[in-house]
Amino acid sequence: MKSAEIREAFLRFFEEKGHTRVASSSLIPENDPTLLFTNAGMNQFKDCFLGLEKRAYTRATTSQKCVRAGGKHNDLENVGYTARHHTFFEMLGNFSFGDYFKQDALHYAWEFLTSAKWLNLPKEKLWVTVYASDDEAFSIWADEIGVPAERIIRIGDNKGAPYASDNFWAMGDTGPCGPCSEIFYDHGEHIWGGPPGSAEEDGDRYIEIWNNVFMQFNRTADGVMHPLPAPSVDTGMGLERISAVLQHVNSNYEIDLFTSLLAGCAKAIGCANDASPSLKVVADHIRSCSFLIADGVTPSNDGRGYVLRRIIRRACRHGNKLGATGPFFHKIVDALVKEMGAAYPQLKEQQAHIERVLKTEEEQFAKTLEQGLRILEQDLAELSGKVIPGKVVFKLYDTYGFPADLTADIARERDLTIDEQGFEREMDAQRERARSSSAFGIDYNSLIKLDSETHFVGYEHKQVQAKVVAILSDGKQVSVLSVGQEGVIVLDQTAFYAESGGQVGDCGYLATDTARFDVRDTTKASSAFLHHGVMLQGELKVGDVLDAIVDARVQKATSLNHSATHLLHAALRQVLGEHVQQKGSLVDSQRLRFDFSHFEAVTAEQIKQLETIVNQQIRENSAVCTEITDIETAKAKGAMALFGEKYGDTVRVLSMGDGFSVELCGGIHAQRTGDIGVFKITNESGVASGVRRIEAITGEAAWLWLNHSDEQVQQAAQALKANRNNILDKLAATIEQVKLLEKDLAQLKAKAAASAGGDLAAQAKEIKGAKVLAARIDGLDGKELLALLDQLKNKLGSAIVLLGGEHEGKVVLIAGVTKDLTSKVKAGDLMKQAAALVGGKGGGRPDMAQGGGSDASQLEAALALAETFAQSEL
Ligand code: ALA
Repeated sequence: MKSAEIREAFLRFFEEKGHTRVASSSLIPENDPTLLFTNAGMNQFKDCFLGLEKRAYTRATTSQKCVRAGGKHNDLENVGYTARHHTFFEMLGNFSFGDYFKQDALHYAWEFLTSAKWLNLPKEKLWVTVYASDDEAFSIWADEIGVPAERIIRIGDNKGAPYASDNFWAMGDTGPCGPCSEIFYDHGEHIWGGPPGSAEEDGDRYIEIWNNVFMQFNRTADGVMHPLPAPSVDTGMGLERISAVLQHVNSNYEIDLFTSLLAGCAKAIGCANDASPSLKVVADHIRSCSFLIADGVTPSNDGRGYVLRRIIRRACRHGNKLGATGPFFHKIVDALVKEMGAAYPQLKEQQAHIERVLKTEEEQFAKTLEQGLRILEQDLAELSGKVIPGKVVFKLYDTYGFPADLTADIARERDLTIDEQGFEREMDAQRERARSSSAFGIDYNSLIKLDSETHFVGYEHKQVQAKVVAILSDGKQVSVLSVGQEGVIVLDQTAFYAESGGQVGDCGYLATDTARFDVRDTTKASSAFLHHGVMLQGELKVGDVLDAIVDARVQKATSLNHSATHLLHAALRQVLGEHVQQKGSLVDSQRLRFDFSHFEAVTAEQIKQLETIVNQQIRENSAVCTEITDIETAKAKGAMALFGEKYGDTVRVLSMGDGFSVELCGGIHAQRTGDIGVFKITNESGVASGVRRIEAITGEAAWLWLNHSDEQVQQAAQALKANRNNILDKLAATIEQVKLLEKDLAQLKAKAAASAGGDLAAQAKEIKGAKVLAARIDGLDGKELLALLDQLKNKLGSAIVLLGGEHEGKVVLIAGVTKDLTSKVKAGDLMKQAAALVGGKGGGRPDMAQGGGSDASQLEAALALAETFAQSEL
C-alpha cells in the first residue's frame, strides 16, 4: 500500500465509525503560546478536551503535519541515526471529545490494523503496552481482544517522577494529558532490539506504531492534575512508520515517500545515494524546513525562527560532510514538491519562496563558517596545552553559529581535543537562560475561565440592550462594581467587537438610567466577551439590564483601515508575488500596520503601484460581501486563511472587488470599498529577516495627512516666493545661489584674515629674543586659522603664536612655533595645556598644533598661556 492510500484508508475507516474528517492545522499552533510547533494531532483540539470549546461533532479524525524539534517532544538529535525518528512527520489520529473512551478506542485500533478489510496485519506481530496501573486497558486487550498476556507489557513511571512515563502522554508541561496504551510492530529477528520495557527497547526491531491516549486530566503549572470535564480519546499513528510496516521495509527512510527524495538529495549534493545517516538527515530536514517555511516561519535568532535556522544549518553541515561544495539544500525542494505537492498544494504554491529563504540562509551560513574558522585559528594560536576549553567551543557555537562537532573535527586534525564537559556546562547554562526567557510556556490555565457565552450582534447593530452576566475586578468574580472601580463586564449579548484578527477591540459605554461604565477595550476569553473599563457613575450588578453602545465613529474609522488592509494584502500579492503572506496585522482607528513575508525592501516604484491599485479598488466602490460557509467551500473559493487564526466549523468569507480580495475574516468592515475614501502608505520598513512592514492610513486620517502635506508645500512655496508649479525650479536656483554665496564669503574671509595678519603682527611682544603673539579671532574655522598662522609666522620670523576663537559655538585653537625655536618650545605641548583649559583636547607637531573645546569663558586664560610658556621654556 502506498502512503497516500494508507492515509486515505485511515480517514475513511474512522469516517465509517462516525468521525468527522478535519483538515490538518498549521505547523504554527493556533492561539497557543505554550507550544513551539504543532507536535501532535490533538493540538488543534486542545480546547475541546479542556471543555472550553464545543464543536458540531464529538468524534474527529485527521492526518496532521507535525514537527518535533525543540520543545517537549524533540527528536532532532535522533534523526538519521534511527530508522524511525523525524523532525517532520504526518500523524494519523482519531479523537473523542467526551464521547467514546478506552474500550472503543482499543477495539477500533485493533480492527483497523488487523481486519482483512483494512490493513490486515498479522496479529502475532503486534505487541501492546499499558500504563502500569491501568487494569482496565489490560483487561480490554487480554480478555476482549485476545492479545496473549505475554505480549501486553505494563510500563510504570520509568522517567523518574510520578506520571513521567512512556505510557503517560502529555502535550506539554501544562494542558491535557492521560495514561496511554501503545501498539508495537515486531519487524523481525534479523533486526537488533527488544520489546518495550526491555534493556534493548531502543533498537529498531519493535517499533511503536500507534499511541492511544486516554485523556483524563488537565495539568496546571503547579503540577496539579484536574480531571477533564469528560474522559476523552486522542490517538496518533505515524504515517511513515505504518507505511514501513505495510511496504515491508525496516526503515521509514525506505518507504515510497522517501525513495525519490533521497535520490534528489544525493543529486543536489553530488554524492552517492547510499542511505548514509547524513543523507537521511538531509532528506528529513528538507521536509521540516520546507513545511515550516510554507507555514510562515522564517529563520531568525529566537523562537520558532531559531529552531528553523538550526535545522537548516544541521542539514548544511551533513551535506558538507557528504562533500557538497556550495549551496545545495534549496535545490532539493523541487524533489520534495514532486513527492508531496499533491497532498499539500501549499508546498507547490510556495516553492519559489521556500527555495529563496533556504538559499539565503545557506549563503549566510557559509559566511558564518568562514568567520568561525578564522576565530578558531586565532584561539588556537594562543592555546597552550592540547585541549580547547569549553568556553571557546561555546563562544564559537553561540556567537558564530559554529557547530561544536565541527570544532571537534578540526581539533582532531591537529591532534587536539575539545573540553566536551566544559562545553556542555556552558550549554546547560544557556538552556537555563533560554528557558527562563522563553515566551513558550505561559500558563494557559491562568486565563480567567468563564462559562458564560456572549451573543455577538455587532455586524448588524452598534447598540443593543443586554444583561450583565458576570463582573470581574482584580482578577476575580464580583457581584457589583461601584463608581471609580476598574473592571470587566460580561454581557449576554453585545455589539462590541472583541480584539481579534489584528483589529482592536471596540470602545464605547454601558449605561442604565443611573449608571455609566466607560468601555476602553473589548477582548474575548473563550466564548465570553470582556468589556474592560471603569465605572464613571453609579454601580452595576450582575443581572442588571443596560444599553451597550459602541463608539461608532471610532469603529467606523477602524473598519475602513481593516478593509484597506485586505485590499493591500491582495495588491501585495499582485505586485510582489504569491509568496507574500500575512505575518502580523494591527488595525485601529488611526492607521493600519501590515507585516508580511518578503525578502527585499519594497521599492518606491512598487509603493506607488500598491497605492494605485488599492485606490482604484476604492474608486470601483464595490460592495464588501460576507458569506458564512464551511472552511472547505471557502478555500475552494480561493479565500486566504491566515496562520495563527482558529477557524471553527463555519467561517466568514469576506470579499471585495469581484474576487480581487477574498479572505476569511471575522472583522468589522466598510460597506462599500468607496467608504475607505483614500489610501496612503506612510512608511515601509523591515521588522525581521524576510519580514517587511507597511504602515498606511485611510479615510479622514489620510485626508488630514494629505492636507497637511499640501499646507507644507504651500508654505514652502511662500517662503521661496514661488508657486506650486515652479517650486522645484525655484528651490534648485536657491541652492545654486547659496553655493555661490558661500564661495564669495570664503574669499572675503581670506582677505580679511590677510589684512588682520598685518595688524596682529604688530601686537606681538618680545620675550627673551623671540616674538610672542596670542590673539582672539572669532568666526574662523580651523583651516582659516591655519592660513593666518602661517602668514604670522612668516611675518614675525622667530615666533611663538597662539590663536583662538569661537566658531559655530565651539572654541577653535591653533598654535605655531617657528623652526628655530622648536628645540625649546613645542607647539604640541602648548596646545595640550591650552585646549585642556577650554574643556577640550589638542595636540600636534612641534611647529604646529591644533585643538578645541567647548568652554569659551576660558579662552582668554588659554591664550595667556603663550606668554607663560615663552617665559618658562625659552
Ligand atoms: N497525542 C499522542 C501522541 O502524540 C497520540 O503520541
